[in-house]
Amino acid sequence: MSVQYTPVIWNRNKIFYDAVLLIAVVLYLYIYIRVAPGFEDVTKPIDGAILRMRAFGSCAFLMLTVILCIGPLARLDRRFLPLLYNRRHFGVMTAGIAAVHANYVLTWYYNFSPTDKYVALLSSNTNYGQILGFPFETLGIVALLILFVLAATSHDFWLSFLGAPIWKALHMFIYAAYACVVLHVALGALQGAGDPIFTSVVAASVVLVSGLHFATGRMEARRDRGEETAKASLQEKGWLVAGELDEIDDDCAKVVTLSDDERVAIFKYDGKLSAITNACAHQNGPLGEGKVLWGCITCPWHGYQYNLSDGRAPAPFTEKISTYRLKLIGSTILLDPNALPPGTHVDPVEIGEAA
Ligand code: HEM
Ligand code: FES
Repeated sequence: MSVQYTPVIWNRNKIFYDAVLLIAVVLYLYIYIRVAPGFEDVTKPIDGAILRMRAFGSCAFLMLTVILCIGPLARLDRRFLPLLYNRRHFGVMTAGIAAVHANYVLTWYYNFSPTDKYVALLSSNTNYGQILGFPFETLGIVALLILFVLAATSHDFWLSFLGAPIWKALHMFIYAAYACVVLHVALGALQGAGDPIFTSVVAASVVLVSGLHFATGRMEARRDRGEETAKASLQEKGWLVAGELDEIDDDCAKVVTLSDDERVAIFKYDGKLSAITNACAHQNGPLGEGKVLWGCITCPWHGYQYNLSDGRAPAPFTEKISTYRLKLIGSTILLDPNALPPGTHVDPVEIGEAA
């Protein structure tokens, strides 16, 4: 197996998304570090380094919360889909902000330690058996390591190199990172007097993330049940399960065998699906192996062409072939095995709407 590296491709939408994100982060940090202290008790001013450490830590935490909310929101309501787009840059930026937070901790809390600051970080508190005074920094380190691995493997190269199932399983560790951060904060900053506003923000984040995932889970379970019923009722009417959407590459076909002399080619093109007989009207050439261009299939043997939505050769030619009806339930393609008379128009199935 060989996978080629291609650099990150930028476009206007990605640049806009990143710019909005960057402005929001800078604004948050500015308000936290420059504006908010003006409203604090001036008899107990907080040291600048601690303030910056907290600003970057809380910013990374909020970014992680938003990242985890984007997925379920987009599944609940398609209007949130644009947020899903480019979410990987969001993740990389979060890892960067969290790293700045950790760096402030190292350069401030451990700078005056007689031992090396990294050694001091790991060895100054090893009371893992107790809740009060738990070495919560370790949980931060675990979270940061996970965020780094996810950021480093966020490029498409890793998606093709590892394959979608492994890549997706790896990126599920974002939930482990979130759990570590929540515990890191709960056992660290929220211990003792604690700040009521920050405590409420952390609690709201946990309620929001778990609530949205719960709601999405329920909605998907309901939708799956609906899809199963729809599939079963079509199958009762004689329709066949022809396969899954992701089995067909763009501008290619899946050929389904109905009997020794009847094969159907199901094409995926321009975000749509259409089915025609696999046999060319000229000399039975395999249309499923042909090339799709402008919604037409060109037979690989002698170049006859047919419109995929009605099986008719473009004018001035008059050849016609059979078409078939399709339905897309979730990601499953169902086929009505009864061939329609040659040249019958069938509206292509829109993939975006049904999937
Ligand atoms: C090497 C990794 C890390 C270390 C050593 C570390 C250490 C610390 C320390 C010492 C505090 C101060 C607690 C206090 O004020 O009592 C803190 C607070 C915090 N950390 Fe971390 N941390 C790490 C990673 C992370 C990561 C990855 C995140 C988020 C993604 C994070 C989010 C926070 C937050 C939200 C706070 C509370 C800030 C506040 O008081 O407003 N930390 N961390
Ligand atoms: S068999 Fe298709 S063009 Fe000849």
